[in-house]
This record gives sequence, structure tokens and C-alpha cells, in this order.
Amino acid sequence: MANLRLACVVGARPNFMKMAPLLRALDAYPSIEAVLIHTGQHYDQNLSDVFFEELGMKRPEVSLDVGSGQHGEQTARVLERFEDVLRRGTPGGKRYDLVVVVGDVNSTMAATLAAAKLGVKVAHVEAGLRSFDRTMPEEINRVVTDAIADILLVSEPSGVENLRREGHAEDRIHLVGNIMIDTLVWLLPRAKARDTHQQYGLQPGRYGLVTLHRPANVDTPEILSRLLEVLIDTSRELPLVFPIHPRTKKRIEQFDLSQRLASAEGIVQLPPLGYLDFLALSSQAKVIVTDSGGLQEESTVLGIPCLTARPNTERPVTVDQGTSTLVGNDPVKLRKCLDEVIQNSYKKGSCPPLWDGMAAKRTATVLAGA
Ligand code: UD1
Repeated sequence: MANLRLACVVGARPNFMKMAPLLRALDAYPSIEAVLIHTGQHYDQNLSDVFFEELGMKRPEVSLDVGSGQHGEQTARVLERFEDVLRRGTPGGKRYDLVVVVGDVNSTMAATLAAAKLGVKVAHVEAGLRSFDRTMPEEINRVVTDAIADILLVSEPSGVENLRREGHAEDRIHLVGNIMIDTLVWLLPRAKARDTHQQYGLQPGRYGLVTLHRPANVDTPEILSRLLEVLIDTSRELPLVFPIHPRTKKRIEQFDLSQRLASAEGIVQLPPLGYLDFLALSSQAKVIVTDSGGLQEESTVLGIPCLTARPNTERPVTVDQGTSTLVGNDPVKLRKCLDEVIQNSYKKGSCPPLWDGMAAKRTATVLAGA
């Protein structure tokens, strides 16, 4: 009989690789019932379903189907619908003891707020990360979530410092390491065995991988076209593969950049990929150009140069210790770093402590004691 009932909340693509290893680790505790709740912030097959299949994750017991919308709209829908879920209790009608949220998407913050108002404790996996840039929606989500969460599970040392500075009690802060890396460690052999790069005419170690989706990079025509021009130019020397996020695809069309991009023979445009195909490409790339948070971390573990198209990062260990360099949306800086990579003079990095594939076990141990 379960004596600890958890509502485990996922909403958007980067949440799935963090929740999957935790659910597996929780399976080792017969006294814990973990109910999986999908808010539906991401709903496309290739942004959601494919991850459940590839990560071996059970189907959600509860779906909130909130879909896309303005921030207020989307957040409000999660708040309203998740509050209802908490009021109804588990599928067996019992009260939830703890809500587990991961990452920094709108669903993370909204679920935390709903739980805190109902007096249900919250554990936040990936707590304490700060970019100190309040123009980023994720930064607001991180600050609000941590302010009202009860158990703060941290992936890198800067997160501990940030939480201490914000006055969080020491006994709430747990440095458990990077849970998303558990998924990478688990699936890397399977990903590397795939022939994904061959399918797109690429040779291991001889192509760059690009992802861009942050509003700050893709929502303004001048910025997006400036970044694309550097990529188009680089692709004459180094082929690039570019899985395009739906937000970015919309903007490229809206800003009339589709033809220009299609004219670059060295750029392979793809739809968003599943976890295994993506890892097959990222793990064998010569360089990664991205504005994704997760990819900054994955490239550090893989030892692959990562040129991060952001002016700041909430994951400073990937720059100080890892393989990432912040290039903002400055075309000169980006091009300079790409040249260093092509000439093999780019810096080397090392793997941060506790990014070892065992973070989910450490997280489950903390939760079991809640
Ligand atoms: C969200 C997260 C971001 C995360 C990213 C990963 C927030 C504030 N942002 O950004 O932190 O890095 O997910 O992908 O939570 N769309 C689809 N299909 C879908 C989902 C969305 O086509 O399944 C389109 C819709 O047009 C939508 C747009 O993508 O308006 C943006 O989706 P949204 O969830 O609002 O934000 P993301 O940019 O995906």
C-alpha cells in the first residue's frame, strides 16, 4: 500500500527526459505511488508522443490538454485544470502528498502555484538555476517556482549558491546532479547505433547541428536573418543539420526567409526529431549551435563544442567547465568561434560533478524521505 502519493507533472519537450529516469528510480519504492500528469503544453507527435515511446515512459494517467496560447492563457489553463486534479486526488481517490515538477516551462510554474495554494508540498527538480535575465519567460518561471517550492533539487553548484543567496533554508536544498544526463547516459549506446547521419548524407564528426527556438532569437526578423546568414555562410565549409522547432518554422515563413534558407545547399532542414535521432546527431557532431538550455548541458557531457546563441546562461558550469561559449546573437562572435572549431583550436571542457547518470536515484532518495 502506497504511503506517499506523488503527482509528477510534465508539459513540454524538455520535461520528458527529466521525468523518465525519475519515474524509473521511483519504481524501486513500493511505498510510493507516482501518478504522471501531462499538461499538454506540447502536443505534437514529434514534440511529445515520440518521447514517451523512446524514453520507455508510461502513458500519462491524467492529461490536461492545455495546448498553446499566450503566456497568461496557457499558465491560467494549467492552474485551473491542475487545481482540479489535486482536488480530485489520485485515480484511487487519495490525497496527493507531493507534487513533483521539473525544469522551467510555463507548466512547471503553474503546477507549482496551484499546489502551493492548496497546501500540497512541491519538489522542484532543476531548482536554483538563474540567468538573471527577467526578459526570459523561463527565468520568471524559475524564480516563482523556487520561491514557493518546498524541496529544491539542484543540478549544478551555482544553483545551490543562488538558492542560499535568496534565503532558502539549507535543509531544503539538495545537490543531486543533472537528471537529464541520466537519460543521455542510458540511451547513448542505442542512439549511436542508429544510422541517422547517413540518412541525411552526413559523416560523423564532419557536420554542425543547429537548433534555435528562443523568442529573443527567432521572433525578430533582423536577428533571425542575421543568425541564418552566418549559418548559410558556414555551411559552405561545414554542412549543417537544422531540426526546426515549430515556433522557428512559423517565423521563417512569416519573415519570408524560407527561400533564402532553402538556397543553402549545405543546410539540411528537418522537422523536430525524436530523442534517439537527435542524440545520434548531437553525439557525433563537430559543433553544436543552439539556444537550448538542455543542449548546452548535453554537449558538455558529450565533449562537443557548443556555441550558445544567448547573452547569458542559467547553466554557468557549461561555460566555466564545459564546452559552451556564449555568443549571443552577434554574427562576428559566432563566426569566430565556428572558425576556431573548424581549425580545431576551440577550447576543451570537462564533465561537471554528479552529471553521472545516477541523479534520478539520488533524487528518489530525497523524495522518499519527504
Ligand atoms: C517551450 C518553453 C521553453 C522550452 C521549449 C522547448 C515556456 C515559456 N517555454 O517553448 O522553455 O525551451 O518549450 O521546446 O514554457 N507548437 C506546436 N506544437 C506543439 C507545441 C507548440 O506547433 O506541440 C507551436 C505553437 O504554435 C506555439 C509555439 O509552438 O504557439 C510555441 O509553443 P510554446 O509551448 O508556447 O513555447 P515553446 O517556444 O515551445
